[in-house]
Amino acid sequence: MTKDPDIARAAEMISSARYLTAFTGAGVSVESGVPPFRGDKGIWNNYDPGILDLSRYRSYPEESWPVVYEIFYRNFSQAHPNKAHLFLSFLEESGRLKSVITQNIDNLHQEAGNREVIEYHGNSQWLACLYCGERFWSGDLNLSVQVPRCPNEGGLLKPDFIFFGETIPVDASMRANVEAERTDLMILIGTTGEVMPAAMVPRRAKNSGASIIEINIAETNYTEQLTDLFLKGKAGEICGMIHREMRR
Ligand code: APR
Repeated sequence: MTKDPDIARAAEMISSARYLTAFTGAGVSVESGVPPFRGDKGIWNNYDPGILDLSRYRSYPEESWPVVYEIFYRNFSQAHPNKAHLFLSFLEESGRLKSVITQNIDNLHQEAGNREVIEYHGNSQWLACLYCGERFWSGDLNLSVQVPRCPNEGGLLKPDFIFFGETIPVDASMRANVEAERTDLMILIGTTGEVMPAAMVPRRAKNSGASIIEINIAETNYTEQLTDLFLKGKAGEICGMIHREMRR
């Protein structure tokens, strides 16, 4: 478990950062009730990743949609930001944090109040028509139907996050790279660093001279190679401790 001097050091590094950024993965939302992708209780341990194959979704949406709905809408609808999301929101509000680059599609950083959120893998709360391209907010649609259709001309709606076989949105990828080159301190929270090209973002930051704080319940691909300060523990608990330390 992380010791007090490490918490104090993290608070000091964050307070003195010139251009602070955060890079988050599924682990930041686990305490909100959103399951991670990998590991025992991971989504890909319980569901076939093939449901997020784009060509399969286009051809057989009636097979994929009920599962997509169950994982990303029915389950997510109960989730609310936890102490880690709220800490990042406090850091942005207080002018320290310049952006959050997230691989998550659960919209919880935005719900916590962060405005500068780079949605590297998209956002489940938007759906886009595969025919006309118009985007719709999930709350304005009835998603518990067999397959969601566009109110305009009935085209198939697809959640506006990356399916397998899709490329990263150009704008998100470019903004993430710019932030990685600008930042002098990046906080990594709850990510394995296994999924490309997202996994390159912290590497780019490190290569550009940034220091790295990593918060995770277990060591990752980054810990040995990139991390300057590893804080072992649950994201919400560790962030809560740093938050308290910064308010002292
Ligand atoms: N607090 C902090 N870290 C945690 C917690 C927690 N409460 N619970 C789990 N973790 C850590 C795990 O140790 C692991 O390192 O979070 C990470 C979760 O790993 P993944 O599920 O692989 O999530 P991520 O790295 O974000 O996956 C990246 O893979 O298929 C995809 O597109 C999907 O964006 C996702 C990408």
